[in-house]
Amino acid sequence: MVKPRVFVTRILPSPALDILREYCEVEVNPRDEPPSKEDLINRVKDKHALLCLLTDSIDSEVISAALDLRVISTYSVGYDHINVEEATRRGIYVTNTPGVLTDAVADFTWALLLGAARRIVEADNYVRSGRWKIAWSPMLLLGCSVYGKTLGIIGLGRIGMAVAERAKGFNMKVMYYDVQRPPLDVEKRLNVEYKSLEELLRESDFVTIHVPLTKETYHLIGERELRLMKKSAFLINTARGAVVDTRALARALGEGWIAGAALDVFEKEPIEEDNPLLKLSNIVLAPHIASATVEARSKMAEIAALNIVSVLRGEMPPYLVNLDVLNVKPLKAVKMI
Ligand code: GLV
Repeated sequence: MVKPRVFVTRILPSPALDILREYCEVEVNPRDEPPSKEDLINRVKDKHALLCLLTDSIDSEVISAALDLRVISTYSVGYDHINVEEATRRGIYVTNTPGVLTDAVADFTWALLLGAARRIVEADNYVRSGRWKIAWSPMLLLGCSVYGKTLGIIGLGRIGMAVAERAKGFNMKVMYYDVQRPPLDVEKRLNVEYKSLEELLRESDFVTIHVPLTKETYHLIGERELRLMKKSAFLINTARGAVVDTRALARALGEGWIAGAALDVFEKEPIEEDNPLLKLSNIVLAPHIASATVEARSKMAEIAALNIVSVLRGEMPPYLVNLDVLNVKPLKAVKMI
């Protein structure tokens, strides 16, 4: 039997490569940056599986270059960088790594929320730059309190729910908006109230985004939505940059429509040098690291590899994105090991 050939687009934490090497011939991009489009196309041509990152655009050109590709496994929960429709049409399984990064992302959302509300980055800069000359001052770096305030969660999926759980410790009133409502007992357990997007934006002190990027959520938060928010409110985004209109957000922060923001994700990553957000002081910026804990990243590596091995064994993978593919090409037709 032919050993399946896999291309891995970046060096990953263990145990991903060890799991794959047990069953497959593994080729890894050795550089600490994404392969170029040309390189990706060349390397994927003769492969049966692709393990990619959210920095790789797996568009129809890449997919159509790989004539015997059976599975695309992304080392991420988001899969907006993959043309899933095209993959499904060609009978290619697409998998992701949800669940194992939920707590890491929810924790980081809270780190950003608290960091923005209590001006932690400004405080750190203040101390390091030698500006701290008087021991204690009544008005120094006044922030905004979090305990007992209202939190608005846009997108009550796994991560939105984990953020809501943590809000209990801050005695917050929690509201959410989603296109789908969970069963009533979930609302009760989490102590969250359903609101329309408009109501949520008008009433929340902190708005946090946890929706995937789709055609429907692109620029979900633009000028109209930012103007609905309280002048004292904060916006937190750990989902995808393009859910928020960057230009509108920069104006909102610069002109005081809202008090502050904290972002881990951007429309263009890495951020462009002339991004207007870089000039503002009422925003906390992070380089897309919400899932970056040793624990989460190594679990993600394990799941990303297991997703590939399962498909190539003709077994249901732990996390299949495109369930429809089962009707296009059944698992027994992709089995190699
Ligand atoms: C990170 O953004 C992910 O989608 O896993």
